[in-house]
Amino acid sequence: MIDFGLCDRAGRHVTLRPVGDDNWRAVADVAPRDDQRAWVAALAARYLVLTMRSDVWTSLAVFADEAVVGHVMWGVDGDGSRWLGGLVVDAAEQDRGVGRATVRTLVDWLAGQDGGGHPIRLSYHPDNAPAAALYRSLGFAPTGAMEDDEIVVELRP
Ligand SMILES: CC(C)(COP(=O)(O)OP(=O)(O)OC[C@H]1O[C@@H](n2cnc3c(N)ncnc32)[C@H](O)[C@@H]1OP(=O)(O)O)[C@@H](O)C(=O)NCCC(=O)NCCS
Repeated sequence: MIDFGLCDRAGRHVTLRPVGDDNWRAVADVAPRDDQRAWVAALAARYLVLTMRSDVWTSLAVFADEAVVGHVMWGVDGDGSRWLGGLVVDAAEQDRGVGRATVRTLVDWLAGQDGGGHPIRLSYHPDNAPAAALYRSLGFAPTGAMEDDEIVVELRP
């Protein structure tokens, strides 16, 4: 379990846990709002399949107390940079501080891997204003690169 003691605005304890027998169905069912499907997969199930097919990505279940409320995944690129992806907070759980607590928790954990010193990167669709605002407020800055029509941003150590 990845736990940096962060909570959402309702005071629920936000943790990141391995996807396993006890939670994979709930993680697969995590869904964004309909209007967000232009920017991310319609169901977190797509990201679970991606991580099963990939050597790079690892999925994590986002918990608020003991409820599954989202999905996020992380990976390591060839240059040692850490990547964050597949962030989806279930539509019914958005705007409660879960997304911010999730990104802060994963960033803190990734920053400490292998002694630290590596950038943390992610990408988002240019029209995804909520995601842009969230990442900007946490210190992510554009690298100037694009990945599959998405803006790449990074957090420098
Ligand atoms: C982006 C997302 C993960 C944010 O999760 P959340 O739990 O709703 O976000 P939070 O309540 O923690 O809010 C964090 C910040 O996001 C931004 N934000 C969230 N909703 C927003 C909205 N409707 N409009 C503008 N900014 C918004 C704000 O900067 C907010 O800051 P605050 O903490 O000062 O309020 C969530 O909206 C989501 O799952 N969207 C669909 C999937 C997606 O776009 N993922 C990112 C792909 S890169």
